[in-house]
Amino acid sequence: MKIAIGSDHAGYDLKEIIKKHLEEKGFEVIDKGTFSKERVDYPVFGEAVAKAVASGEAEKGIVICGTGIGISISANKVKGIRAALCTNEYMARMAIRHNNAHILALGGRVLGQDLALSIVDAFFEEHFEGGRHEKRVQLIHNIEEKYCQEA
Ligand code: RB5
Repeated sequence: MKIAIGSDHAGYDLKEIIKKHLEEKGFEVIDKGTFSKERVDYPVFGEAVAKAVASGEAEKGIVICGTGIGISISANKVKGIRAALCTNEYMARMAIRHNNAHILALGGRVLGQDLALSIVDAFFEEHFEGGRHEKRVQLIHNIEEKYCQEA
């Protein structure tokens, strides 16, 4: 599976750790930056990862900023994308099982390394349950159709 990953400076260290972890597990990781700890703007990287997923360049994505909030909001502005900010394994599992999320958002300044990796593993272990959740995801899509223009 191809996974796009991106962060700002506050998520850079965790991005590097997650990238290595995923590559060791056999995933192909497409790094959309940032590539150093120099201060940058998180929306740029949220958009880059979301675009990679929306275009099919990657199947899933991971975005990281200090809290995970700004970069998840940014990724969710790309049409068709569902980015889920998760702070524990349960949220990561539900983000896939119930919400069929494309992108996992994490906070580099709020998560320890081991917790972050367990959240990542949970996210990629799960499968969408469909059924009643399919209708709810479709309802999210309907909101987009009503309010969002294609870029
Ligand atoms: C950067 O200082 C910080 O604001 C950013 O990483 C993120 O936490 C925003 O939501």
